[in-house]
Amino acid sequence: MSNTQDRIPLKARKVSFSWDDTPLHWVPGDPFTSHTINVLHLLLPAGERWFVHVYKQVLPYIRDERLREDVIGFIGQEAMHSQAHDEVLPHLREQGLDPTPYTAQVDWLFEKLLGDRTLPPGRARRWWLMERVAIIAAIEHYTAFLGDWVLNAEELDRRGADPTMLDLLRWHGAEEVEHRSVAFDLFMHVDGDYRRRVRTWATAFAALVFLWQRGARFFMANDPTLVDGRATFRDFYVRGRRGTLPATGDMLRSIPRYLSRAYHPSQEGSTAQAVAYLASSPAALAAGTAQESAKGAA
Ligand SMILES: [Fe+2]
Ligand SMILES: [Fe+2]
Repeated sequence: MSNTQDRIPLKARKVSFSWDDTPLHWVPGDPFTSHTINVLHLLLPAGERWFVHVYKQVLPYIRDERLREDVIGFIGQEAMHSQAHDEVLPHLREQGLDPTPYTAQVDWLFEKLLGDRTLPPGRARRWWLMERVAIIAAIEHYTAFLGDWVLNAEELDRRGADPTMLDLLRWHGAEEVEHRSVAFDLFMHVDGDYRRRVRTWATAFAALVFLWQRGARFFMANDPTLVDGRATFRDFYVRGRRGTLPATGDMLRSIPRYLSRAYHPSQEGSTAQAVAYLASSPAALAAGTAQESAKGAA
């Protein structure tokens, strides 16, 4: 199965980016596309920290050595993603767009609403852990979808999108494609209940749509360079047709795939393409060189 062929050891690449030269509208002349993608910087720092927090608790439930290694590799990659997106926020602040009112709500969502509840050890605590493991599997269906999309979004290059932002998105997207099976394999290993998969997909999908449109509106409304900045579904649909954002039809078609009993993430995206991007990504290459020289010095 392609699942086995695709398996590569997951490693975290310690990337860093310099945002000094990145304009606020990093897709030239298109604040809506820039800000819709900027929502990632609002959601991912808290979201991916939460993945790591939940996965550390699930490690004792894993009875398969290979899967455990994958989960540990996944934790390392997500921790790095979270940090890399977090580092964009001071740059937005310098440009007059303070994201704190929004990120405070996102932090509350992940730390309180989706955090550890005071549950006695036993069934209730396990139920809540499995529910969160299933939510992560559903979210990872979308991170892989978006990763695959951004690796192929040539329209962003054609429109002269900022190369540093593109590298952040594609480095992250490539690692999402690379580790796309881990969250689903983990869910199937520790639980796998189909009703739970459907229920948590509905929760995750509704939350993502809600948070994303709110985030895009927040940025458009608070962008100091825009007068009366708005974000509508039509704006999104048009960018999808144009190729600077994912197409609405592609997003809708990905829903029944996740809900199919035959679903496996290995059927989505291309590991070869992800690995090829990581072999040429300026940030990943710089991280590789820094890690090699640190090893040499040790
Ligand atoms: Fe990630
Ligand atoms: Fe991920």
